[in-house]
Amino acid sequence: MTSKVTVVGAGNVGATTAQLAAAAELGDIVLIDIVDGLPQGKALDMVQLGGVKAFTGSIKGTLDWAETAGSDIVIVTSGMPRKPGMSRDDLLAKNASIVKSVTEQVVKTSPDAFIIVVCNPLDVMVAVAAQVSGFAKHKVMGMAGALDSARFACFISQELGVSIEDVKGVLMGGHGDDMVPLPRFTSVAGIPLPELMQKSKIDELIERARKGGIEIVNYLGYSAYYAPAAGAVKMAEAILKDKKSVISCCAYCDKEYGVGGAFVGVPAILGAGGVEKIVELKLTKEEKQAFDESAAHVKDLVVNVKKFL
Ligand code: NAI
Ligand code: 2OP
Repeated sequence: MTSKVTVVGAGNVGATTAQLAAAAELGDIVLIDIVDGLPQGKALDMVQLGGVKAFTGSIKGTLDWAETAGSDIVIVTSGMPRKPGMSRDDLLAKNASIVKSVTEQVVKTSPDAFIIVVCNPLDVMVAVAAQVSGFAKHKVMGMAGALDSARFACFISQELGVSIEDVKGVLMGGHGDDMVPLPRFTSVAGIPLPELMQKSKIDELIERARKGGIEIVNYLGYSAYYAPAAGAVKMAEAILKDKKSVISCCAYCDKEYGVGGAFVGVPAILGAGGVEKIVELKLTKEEKQAFDESAAHVKDLVVNVKKFL
């Protein structure tokens, strides 16, 4: 049976996600927004793209949640992006109310869907979607690690002059300046990164990956969307095609890494069951400390967001 993917928000990330999902032939795509004309116009343009490069599946733009009914996956990109000078945390109040209302619609129309949240501040918005939906924890997750590790891989490939597809990395923690790229678990065609690069250079690239979002905001005046959309589609594809892909993403951790019940970035196996397993790495004391600090920051924001729900 053809899968159905709803993308909420037809802005930069949402529209790009819909287009990449169609190109990856993930199924029938529904793009929904609150601005009349926006999802309809963008979807029509994408359908016409099929005349140049054909794909299977339909694309529909709408304002009507009824059109999204029975979706297998809902990707939530409806939220304010940051502008120069703003941190992701500055978006908390506004985006919490948007994610809450969108999640309520998902519960009514697609009660069996997996939810992939993209809105910022990412880890907290995943917690909001999980709380409001009441869905099983393995069905709600967030996209950030796929993007942040892609950024780290990009900088490594540029520095070493190697193909980006050979660079594989793991990244943990929240989607913020305290995210935790893990060089020990990053490799170039299987060769551990520390064998190929001086520590001082690795530290420089880690810092650039941590600030990768704001680097683009400072160029554009608004936030990135090509790589973020690709990250969301990679996750959806892993689930719909039961790929058992290991992807860094925001997932619920209880005993794992001693988190004690919170959504935070970890490597996870994504397949037909959603988040099927958290991959537990043996971290050094320093790595664990950095992860704990990042997770603590996420937990503080989750406490703060309760007043906006
Ligand atoms: P955008 O402003 O281009 O698009 C947001 C869209 O959401 C707008 O079209 C708006 O009309 C729509 N929207 C607002 N409320 C809605 C509702 N209740 N229902 C349906 N649609 C609604 O923003 P952009 O650049 O697409 O970013 C979207 C979000 O994704 C932001 O919160 C941004 O910070 C976040 N983001 C997260 C990344 C990550 O790695 N997790 C990466 C890039 C962006
Ligand atoms: C990014 O990292 C803004 O979270 C978004 O590009």
